[in-house]
Amino acid sequence: MPAVVLIGAQWGDEGKGKATDVLGSRVDYVVKFNGGNNAGHTVVVGDETYALHLLPSGILSPGCIPVIGNGVVVDLRVLFEEIDGLESRGVDTSSLLVSSAAHVIAPYARTLDNVTERFLGSRKIGTTGRGIGPAYADKINRIGIRVGDLYDDQLLQDKIEGALEQKNHLLVKVYNRRAISVDEVAEELTSYRDRLAPHVTDTALVLNQALDAGKTVLFEGGQATMLDVDHGTYPFVTSSNATAGGACTGAGVGPTRISRVVGIVKAYTTRVGEGPMPTELFDASGEHLATVGHEFGTTTGRPRRCGWYDAVIARYSARVNGLTDFVLTKLDVLTGLEKIPVCVAYEVNGVRHEDLPLDQAAFAAATPVYQEFPGWSEDISGARSFEDLPEAAQNYVRALEEISGCRMSAIGVGPGREEIIVRHDLLGEPA
Ligand code: IMP
Repeated sequence: MPAVVLIGAQWGDEGKGKATDVLGSRVDYVVKFNGGNNAGHTVVVGDETYALHLLPSGILSPGCIPVIGNGVVVDLRVLFEEIDGLESRGVDTSSLLVSSAAHVIAPYARTLDNVTERFLGSRKIGTTGRGIGPAYADKINRIGIRVGDLYDDQLLQDKIEGALEQKNHLLVKVYNRRAISVDEVAEELTSYRDRLAPHVTDTALVLNQALDAGKTVLFEGGQATMLDVDHGTYPFVTSSNATAGGACTGAGVGPTRISRVVGIVKAYTTRVGEGPMPTELFDASGEHLATVGHEFGTTTGRPRRCGWYDAVIARYSARVNGLTDFVLTKLDVLTGLEKIPVCVAYEVNGVRHEDLPLDQAAFAAATPVYQEFPGWSEDISGARSFEDLPEAAQNYVRALEEISGCRMSAIGVGPGREEIIVRHDLLGEPA
């Protein structure tokens, strides 16, 4: 039975929510394994649009059990805001499972995220300001607070005291901010624990047992490959492993159990925040992509930087994730363009690179080598099979497939749930 990992193949916002949602009704568990409420999935169901940040998008599929794995950092305030928002629209969230080993985002992590960014000035990362980096830093520094700790008053008190001893020095002496009291942190964290209790469990055990019992499990990556702390454009990355390997560590499931790895890739490229992006556009074409593609952040509302499809990055993603399939999203956004350039390689100081340059400075200096493809003007949102697409669109997809290192098994042709062409079943046998 399939254990499918689904990850973003670019810099995020590839439309993972939609791809997950398409599978959601056929999977038994959807697991979030990294990140926190820095993510943003927009899922359109009928006339309703849902913007999810922390909850796995499987929460919208009846019968599917949503799981927040140990690799996630949880802002409890946001979790319950999101739960309340969904419940008020009639979505049942009672089956949600939360790992007792997941870390919580304490209020001081949010504060530190924002003051650190301000302090960095022109060297800032452009984070979402949700406390993600500081929460993961505490985890690695072994001073983090885990969900399970909320149920042990003494331990919780000790941990908050220990953490604040350091943080308050930093906040007061370096950043010139007010100190945060142990009580206010304890109060925020404990205020949610009774509501959280029925959801807390050993999710790694549950998931392994589910796989033993032949259930289908979907591991949904937050952020994306190029934002991965190890494999992305460091330091302009998030603080977790957003690549496929993160599913194993972030959910407690061994690599031998994973049967499929699906990369979501947009028919063009976007990026939020700082850092290099070789195909970024500053002209009318970039505006076309931003406007037609509604490229504004689900989480922060920030306009996204837009550019042409970057096959160097797609190939890199296929490799570091061991992709078995791509889902190509938002092909419809390219409709109406006369010519569509695709970046097939980079040039760095006069040298052609087929693969990602080794270091940060070389990547920042990379300029795209483009190959142009003819566009199409027909509305493609009604296409449900590959043959329904205009020939130029078919050729564009075939060309991407050839240069990106993996087959394109599904193609998004519009924002709606049903606006997708499925060429190969993502839950079926891999190629
Ligand atoms: P952080 O995850 O808030 O620490 O932000 C680090 C970088 O990741 C910034 O460039 C953010 O804009 C980016 N980022 C974080 N989450 C997402 C996402 O879900 N989509 C796109 N970019 C993201």
